[in-house]
Amino acid sequence: MSASENNEAYATRLLAEARQRTLDGWELPASDTTTSTPAKIQKVGVIGAGVMGSGIAQWCAACGHEVVLRDMQPEFLERGLEVIRGIFSGSVKREKCTEQEAEAGLARITTTTTWDGFAECDLVIEAIVEDVAVKQKLFHELAEIVRSDTLLASNTSALPLEEVARGVSHPERVLGLHFFNPVGRMPLVELIVGEASSAETASRGLDFVKGLKKSPVICRSSPGFLVTRVLFFYLNEACRLREEGVATESIDAAMHSWGWPMGPMRLIDEVGVDVTDFIFGELAHYFPDRFQRSGICSRLLELELKGRKNGASSGFYVYEGRESSVNAQIAGLQPESNDSTDAESIQARLMGVMIAEARRCLDEGVVKTPEDVDFALLSGAGFPPARGGLMRWASEVGLR
Ligand code: NAI
Repeated sequence: MSASENNEAYATRLLAEARQRTLDGWELPASDTTTSTPAKIQKVGVIGAGVMGSGIAQWCAACGHEVVLRDMQPEFLERGLEVIRGIFSGSVKREKCTEQEAEAGLARITTTTTWDGFAECDLVIEAIVEDVAVKQKLFHELAEIVRSDTLLASNTSALPLEEVARGVSHPERVLGLHFFNPVGRMPLVELIVGEASSAETASRGLDFVKGLKKSPVICRSSPGFLVTRVLFFYLNEACRLREEGVATESIDAAMHSWGWPMGPMRLIDEVGVDVTDFIFGELAHYFPDRFQRSGICSRLLELELKGRKNGASSGFYVYEGRESSVNAQIAGLQPESNDSTDAESIQARLMGVMIAEARRCLDEGVVKTPEDVDFALLSGAGFPPARGGLMRWASEVGLR
């Protein structure tokens, strides 16, 4: 980092460097399979045609891969295909591709409720429900269907690979590919290496991600990896502030004025109150000594307040078209009794939690460098580029 490099230039440099990322510094076991020249990844299997699976299948097909998409019921596949068609037609409208390219991309996707087509896959990405037992069962079945050199990837947001793929044959081929939503627009992919992932697996995974024109950050498998962990510690702290009586709008206004594109309560509505509460549960499970789980999202869910996704229109806010206002139901549930907390205190507390967790990720070796943290949060969590990056900002203002 040169002394004169301003924050925006720093953020731009990190993005460019991420596209050139290598596995330097990662000591991974050599593969013990006999394959001399590992197959280049051409055909990709995607399991789960929900929000993420559809997005991943679309993006892989748009980048030239043959894709087979699997779900449990034909109607789930049809719903996924509808989403995929919508993404392709949106790309045509925005002149990101021609109509012919979109048609060719769509034609590269086949769907199935069985394992047809999976034996030819070079990589399979699992994007089913975030339930460790369901994922484990699937990985066991999958590992016996595909070739022994087929890479097995999970798109899990938070579960350690060692749990998701516990006991599968050839564990050296397991890795995590954590895409962000919406897949087509988010440049970041966290490439997760587990205890057993081989150097060859990581290298093939890295080439694949670069081929998708995505920008990888490499993470050691651990709960929540980097972005989910740091972001949800921050969101949980925002909920704890709300439980202490600080007004929803004061929390959001403070963080928005700090530079975030939206405040944390609004972000929870976008992500989904249910998803947020679920991840809070996972973090509380894995970090019982440190993660003091807020209960406010569970209480919202009891009132069927899920945020803004899947047609839901109420969470911390009530949404009517483009308008939104603070949800009065929550004021009844949790009074806004604390109006003495100023914006600076809110910012210091929430950013402090985020920095502390990012430092722990560095200390534990989840990622290698402060630049990795900065890049991942800039590209995967909406960290404001005008602040440079989380760790850069922390060191500039002298925070330990
Ligand atoms: P979703 O609920 O939209 O879709 C899951 C799909 O998997 C459903 O269509 C379901 O029918 C299917 N499914 C479940 N069990 C299956 C099985 N055994 N075989 C075949 N299909 C099966 O879930 P979503 O949001 O797409 O999440 C999928 C994964 O991606 C989860 O692990 C989640 O944590 C992760 N993730 C989600 C993000 C998001 O913003 N939604 C972002 C990044 C990761």
